[in-house]
Amino acid sequence: MQVSEIQVDGLRTDDGSSLFPLILQCEDALSLDGAAVWLTENSDSLCRKAFDHGAILFRGFPVQTAQDFDQFIAAFGLPNFTYEDSLSNAVRTNRTPRVFTANEAPADVSIFLHHEMAQTPIFPSKLFFFCEMAAQQGGATPICRSDVLFARLKRELPQFAADCTTKGLLYSHIMPAADDAASGMGRSWQSTWKATTPEQAEARMSSLGYTWEWQSNGCLKVTTPRLPAVRDLGDGRTAFFNQLIAAFRGWKDVRNDPSKSITFGDGSALDKAVMAKVIELADEISFDIPWQTGDVALVDNYVAMHGRRTFTGTRKVLASLVAS
Ligand code: FE2
Repeated sequence: MQVSEIQVDGLRTDDGSSLFPLILQCEDALSLDGAAVWLTENSDSLCRKAFDHGAILFRGFPVQTAQDFDQFIAAFGLPNFTYEDSLSNAVRTNRTPRVFTANEAPADVSIFLHHEMAQTPIFPSKLFFFCEMAAQQGGATPICRSDVLFARLKRELPQFAADCTTKGLLYSHIMPAADDAASGMGRSWQSTWKATTPEQAEARMSSLGYTWEWQSNGCLKVTTPRLPAVRDLGDGRTAFFNQLIAAFRGWKDVRNDPSKSITFGDGSALDKAVMAKVIELADEISFDIPWQTGDVALVDNYVAMHGRRTFTGTRKVLASLVAS
């Protein structure tokens, strides 16, 4: 099996970092079974490359359906992270036991850069995406190296970087009483906490260190325990591992106001001008995955953030998460 590294416009090598993302092109049309054997043999090295580069885009592999994608992922031999067990805010639908639709928020809603579930104490180590059908227009998945970003923040916004490191973050949001698919954060409290009664939800929240307030309309306002804003990657790199940008820019729906969704861990507010600079720096070093139908991406969730651009037409991108 012939796989080669290719380059496309816009690849990043900020501050001398390894190419972001790494793109691997399958050069010979082969069966999915053959590709799966190759993936299994190279699983360790591919995972190391994903950690080093932040993400790998696999192009030209024989993956066409959700079942194919499931087989592609299974070949890596990594532990599955289920949506059911996660505290994700998004509404999702499973297509296979390990494959689900990526956030089903409407086409005109941007999903801003974030590390998957970094706003909760339980997060996946990696994500796989599969483009089952590319959108007519738009719909790219922007990805951003958080280690590169944090190095820039330390240089350009040293006080903010220090506050992130020492104070951590608190996230608040209001969960609906029933799934609301019109929102990027519309997962109900019952589904999130796997509860049918408020008492069950409270037991789960308290075991995880959350605080909460019930709303008169049956919704639930929750605040996380203090969560880290950065993560030591163990090799000299530190990642800006959080949901700050997404929460600050986009945690907005009929129930939620982004200006109230996030504070430093001591309750102090984030400075708007500083956040504008953080967002600008992140946008500057982001790469838009230019989805082609059949593409698969492996994103190391500790190293790279991801989001979703708005789009027109039908866009089918499936996702799967890997446990730590
Ligand atoms: Fe996500």
